[in-house]
Amino acid sequence: MRIAHLSDLHVLALAGVPRHRFLNKRLTGYANLRFKRNHVHRSSYVESIAKEIARSKIDHVVVTGDLTNLALETEFQAARDLLEDGLGLSPNDVSVVPGNHDLYTAGALKSRRFTQFFAEYIQSDLPELAAKTRLGPFPFVRLRGPCAIIGLTTAVPRPPFVASGTIGKLQLDALGKILSHPEVRKRTPVILLHHPLHNPPSKLKTLMEGLTDADELAAHLKAKVAADGLVLHGHLHRRQSKALSQDRRGIHVVGATSASLHHENRDRMAGFNVYEIAEDGKVGLVDARVFDADKATFETASIPVLA
Ligand SMILES: [Fe+2]
Ligand SMILES: [Fe+2]
Repeated sequence: MRIAHLSDLHVLALAGVPRHRFLNKRLTGYANLRFKRNHVHRSSYVESIAKEIARSKIDHVVVTGDLTNLALETEFQAARDLLEDGLGLSPNDVSVVPGNHDLYTAGALKSRRFTQFFAEYIQSDLPELAAKTRLGPFPFVRLRGPCAIIGLTTAVPRPPFVASGTIGKLQLDALGKILSHPEVRKRTPVILLHHPLHNPPSKLKTLMEGLTDADELAAHLKAKVAADGLVLHGHLHRRQSKALSQDRRGIHVVGATSASLHHENRDRMAGFNVYEIAEDGKVGLVDARVFDADKATFETASIPVLA
């Protein structure tokens, strides 16, 4: 089974949005977009990636959050259109989890905007095991071939300049039950979450932009996953790979860069990751396709492995 992983689309669609919608945290976000982000994030790159995935032999696509910039309806619609029209796959074969930008404001959480726009992309095969989170039922589980794709939400509305995430006890408890389910146990778990499992060394940085309960998630995985696994994330806008721990090298923690990012550093330039999981559940190939904007082509590249 071949999985394509893209992340952090940061789709921009502000046309027609009334001004009063910016009279909150979006004001700082909007300034950031106008003066910084708009120059480096290009939706046309995401379109090229979607087309390349449609051309490749991919069985399932996963998207690890930050599909939007300011969690506006117009952005959610544009991101959904990109997936729907570009990938040529049914929502059954595309799984999506939210990022901090998709829950940019308290209103986005209250209205469950993400859950509504991506309802078909988060439908669970084991709905009875989901926790009732404020965003809706999570984690979702999609049993596909040798894989059990498990989507967590780590996104929570935060004050300006804070981008950290939290899984929360409800979801962690549900995840424990999901990982023990016989249909999941006989498959390779592919865990999707926006924030990386490995936090920065500084505690302050973790509180500002990390995953506050990463240790609890790692403990669950160490206790419950017997063989190989994938933990896929975004958020860093950089592709990288790291084993869960020295003793659990079969569990790869892999980040995808932003699918819309223009960057001189090849490890950050837009593209997507590809994973191959054999019928016996072993994780085989893990590599990346990097977009070459001048030639409008993709080159295969290895993903930097962190010690
Ligand atoms: Fe992002
Ligand atoms: Fe993010």
